[in-house]
Amino acid sequence: MDVLVTGGAGFIGGHIAERMTRLGHDVTALDNFEPFYNVGIKEHTVEQCRELAAEGNGSYELVNDDLRDAELVNELVADADYVYHQAAQAGVRASVKNPRKVNEINIDGTINLLEAARNSDTERVVVASSSSVYGKPQYLPYDEDHPTTPVSPYGVSKLATEQYARVYSEVYGLPTVSLRYFTVYGPRMRPNMAISNFVSRCLHGEPPVIYGDGSQTRDFTFVDDILWVNEKLLESDAADGEIMNVGSTDNIAIKTLAKEVRDQLAPELELEYGERNDADAEHTHADISKVNELLGYEPATDIREGVGEFIDWYRANEEWYDPLVRDS
Ligand SMILES: NC(=O)c1ccc[n+]([C@@H]2O[C@H](COP(=O)([O-])OP(=O)(O)OC[C@H]3O[C@@H](n4cnc5c(N)ncnc54)[C@H](O)[C@@H]3O)[C@@H](O)[C@H]2O)c1
Repeated sequence: MDVLVTGGAGFIGGHIAERMTRLGHDVTALDNFEPFYNVGIKEHTVEQCRELAAEGNGSYELVNDDLRDAELVNELVADADYVYHQAAQAGVRASVKNPRKVNEINIDGTINLLEAARNSDTERVVVASSSSVYGKPQYLPYDEDHPTTPVSPYGVSKLATEQYARVYSEVYGLPTVSLRYFTVYGPRMRPNMAISNFVSRCLHGEPPVIYGDGSQTRDFTFVDDILWVNEKLLESDAADGEIMNVGSTDNIAIKTLAKEVRDQLAPELELEYGERNDADAEHTHADISKVNELLGYEPATDIREGVGEFIDWYRANEEWYDPLVRDS
């Protein structure tokens, strides 16, 4: 099958492209290598996918270009059976600095993609949404009926993304599924996220820094669980037109997580605290009944196992991945 992955050199898109290549599909990854974080990490992802293809799995092609180019997106979508739309300006804090850019990439870019798909024979468009659409918890865990009151431009853009996908399904009959990912982590994750930051600092004898008092909780989801759902959507139409949470349900306070990493790597270090960012959600916790019912999803990796796996991977790949080693 021909699979287009937008944001295919990024963290989650890169894993989807890798998995699809491994499964024997013909993969096209569209990515403009936004320098939001070190692009060397994305180059490693691309290299990994090329190696897989060279070993006789599926095929892999990188298109180093921009989702905002509607003509290009039309051409790429016309050749694809399945589209995994992961490209976005991710990151809540970046969105507070530059909401217009977030709007252009995340919302206008999504419309380019959906417009192209409704004019093609696309089998399914799977869209990356986010737990950031919820914003302020009225109750926890969040089910999909919980009110959406995002607290950042990023959250607004993801809400618009998933609602456009739903409307394209209802109005034009385009099969779309939106997945509200809950804080995803794992190999090649964006290095500016909490888990990666804690590991990097502890490995280098620097205390992990917690923004706020650390009582904020997160439903950290290991990337393999995210991949499971995306892969399942190649074969199942049970979720067409739907918007679904994908989390681990194993939520943990940021302070507990920092201690966990610190205790494994450098028990002598004290935790440090920085200023809390108002655009960060206070708590996230996923109710996953819907994705469980429709696709049979069960998270397979809890936070302690996942962090252990991530630390092992980190040590093996520190040379090119860790900002403190790479840039020294
Ligand atoms: N990582 C998480 O915890 C998380 C949680 C919820 C939702 N998401 C969503 O999942 C998706 C993937 O996130 P990620 O963590 O892999 O982020 P990422 O930044 O690693 O990946 C996004 C990729 O999109 C590319 N991109 C950005 N603008 C582009 C453009 N105009 N044209 C082409 N490519 C462009 C970037 O270069 C990057 O490689 C995003 O849509 C994000 O909003 C991520």
